[in-house]
Amino acid sequence: MQQVSIYQEAFVSYLNNFIKPREPESLYNPINYILKLGGKRLRPVLTLMTAEIFNCDYKKALDAALSIEVFHNFSLVHDDIMDDAPLRRGEETVHEKWDLNTGILSGDAMLIMAYQLFENYSPDVFQALARLFSKTALEVCEGQQFDVDFETRDNVTIPEYLKMIEYKTAVLVGAAMKMGAIVAQATKEDQDIIYEFGKNLGIAFQLQDDYLDVFGDPKTFGKQVGGDIIENKKTYLYLKAVEFSEADKKTELQHLYSLNTTDHSEKIKTAKQIFVSSGSAEATKKAIEAYTNKAFTVLDHLNVCEKNKLGLIAFGKQLMGRNV
Ligand code: IPE
Ligand code: IPE
Ligand code: MG
Ligand code: MG
Ligand code: MG
Repeated sequence: MQQVSIYQEAFVSYLNNFIKPREPESLYNPINYILKLGGKRLRPVLTLMTAEIFNCDYKKALDAALSIEVFHNFSLVHDDIMDDAPLRRGEETVHEKWDLNTGILSGDAMLIMAYQLFENYSPDVFQALARLFSKTALEVCEGQQFDVDFETRDNVTIPEYLKMIEYKTAVLVGAAMKMGAIVAQATKEDQDIIYEFGKNLGIAFQLQDDYLDVFGDPKTFGKQVGGDIIENKKTYLYLKAVEFSEADKKTELQHLYSLNTTDHSEKIKTAKQIFVSSGSAEATKKAIEAYTNKAFTVLDHLNVCEKNKLGLIAFGKQLMGRNV
């Protein structure tokens, strides 16, 4: 396993080579726009890293890594439509910069491109990757639908929330790593262990995404801070605040989340205060740490050298400290 920056740079240069002007421009320009907008490149880096910890040259995993990143960016284009989000990575979202139809069709094309990238592998690897991809992509759709359904429900439970984030986010992180393991022809047992590691890291990652949506710095966060509050998202922060609050605060919060207000700043301010005073912000931080540590425990059973395990642990810890 090498330094994270090596994987990042190798991936970005591979991606830049993949991005070419094509016609019709109104279909491909938005695709190139979102792919070039940056982002942390977390998932493709995990794919490349995983291939290497199983003793395979990371370059062999570049197409799988690209597939994962193209799929991820597709999901963001459609997610921003569903969440009515104006900002992505500090710039206008695709449906704002162009329009709704563009966001829909460019997104569709990206989903197909992601699948197409598996054609560069031998038939047995292709089949394993495609199988995992289809299962994962369908789960992401299910998670996204739960997320939207929960906006208008007032009785969402913590287990329901955890299942929702597992599906909309964590399974893709797990799959990104498992794809690296598939390309490296790791044993089935190790493929499953690395998937579990990625999935738990992914749960922590989404919990933190929810935390940053409220407490992130608007100057650096790149997304609209408070977007989840505006959209009545039943996040861990919200659910724990309801659980921890006395009757009056609980009612106030639930009432706030039953409205589609126009005074966003007041709603955000009130919700934020309750998240802090109720102890739910602290509880969310603890949960992030707990799922990160759960991911580390999974590594005990993985058949790779200690040095590589420590590399994965260092990466997980770094992720926990992120602010974008
Ligand atoms: C955003 O993912 C969507 C979630 C699943 C939370 P990232 O935070 O990885 O987004 P980028 O790719 O770095 O912009
Ligand atoms: C995103 O969840 C999950 C997927 C894109 C599948 P969010 O809606 O929380 O992601 P952000 O915060 O917009 O990046
Ligand atoms: Mg969103
Ligand atoms: Mg969303
Ligand atoms: Mg979010």
